[in-house]
Amino acid sequence: MKPLSHADVTPAKLYRSRRSFLKTAGNGLLAAALSPALRLKAASAEPPVDTLTPYKDITHYNNFYEFSTDKVRVARLAKNFRTDPWSVEVTGLVDKPGTYDVAAMVAQFKPEERIYRLRCVEAWSMVIPWTGFPISRLLEAVAPTSQARYLKFVTLMDKRQFPGQKNSWYRWPYVEGLRLDEAMHDLAIIATGIYGKDLLPQNGAPIRLVVPWKYGFKSIKSVVKIELVQEQPTSLWMAAAPREYGFYANVNPSVSHPRWSQSSERRIGEFRRRRTLLFNGYDEEVAQLYEGLDLRANF
Ligand code: MTE
Repeated sequence: MKPLSHADVTPAKLYRSRRSFLKTAGNGLLAAALSPALRLKAASAEPPVDTLTPYKDITHYNNFYEFSTDKVRVARLAKNFRTDPWSVEVTGLVDKPGTYDVAAMVAQFKPEERIYRLRCVEAWSMVIPWTGFPISRLLEAVAPTSQARYLKFVTLMDKRQFPGQKNSWYRWPYVEGLRLDEAMHDLAIIATGIYGKDLLPQNGAPIRLVVPWKYGFKSIKSVVKIELVQEQPTSLWMAAAPREYGFYANVNPSVSHPRWSQSSERRIGEFRRRRTLLFNGYDEEVAQLYEGLDLRANF
């Protein structure tokens, strides 16, 4: 398993110059050495598959229904969201439950940079340089009991700050879930920043989940509670539209959403659509979690 690092992707600004460099070099080995994790098409020395999405786009094109269903309005509506003080309760089937202040979490679990593709179920995508730490570190600290099988994540409930929570179409607060072994996977992180800066409210400040091989809606924002439970949690989206959104929500180009295909995606900032990859391209790392599971039935 090898997460992307800055050395593996090309920041938007440098993209053009590196591209011409690779073309001149015309050397597959060199190209592969420059970008090992990105499946360069070495023979043709094509540019890296992924380019970091600009900060402006990551912070101004957001899904955060507690503020608005209009992606371009979220940043403005979220501007005054209060993220300090903030604590996260970790509870349920654990030997050492606790309430963690965000600053204490950062000090204890030591965030690092993780560059991941984010693929929304609506068929757009980005490449985001997160700062975050594996959830496994937190789980090791709270020591799940032998009965714990799932994690249930909950977003803050606050109708005064979240006008969208007055909308009774949805069963608030926003809830998401993971199987314990999924949460223990090193790629699953709790994020606290983007591009080396603290998360902005529109991106789920002060802490959110990021699970890069699943559709973006699993990556729940502004988390206040993580509960270890025995039964599979019902997420907000499963409750709202059970035929459209399942518990697993693994990125899978061969299982269509009932209302649209998932076989391709629009990468923000790019002109042409690109092919969607199984598990969002993290199949080598995560496929073993789902051996024997029917991915069509467990969508
Ligand atoms: N978390 C909460 N609490 N509320 C939301 O509406 N939207 C989800 C996810 N987490 C959402 C959420 C969806 S659909 C996506 S695609 C991602 O957040 C978007 O994250 P971003 O705005 O940081 O790109």
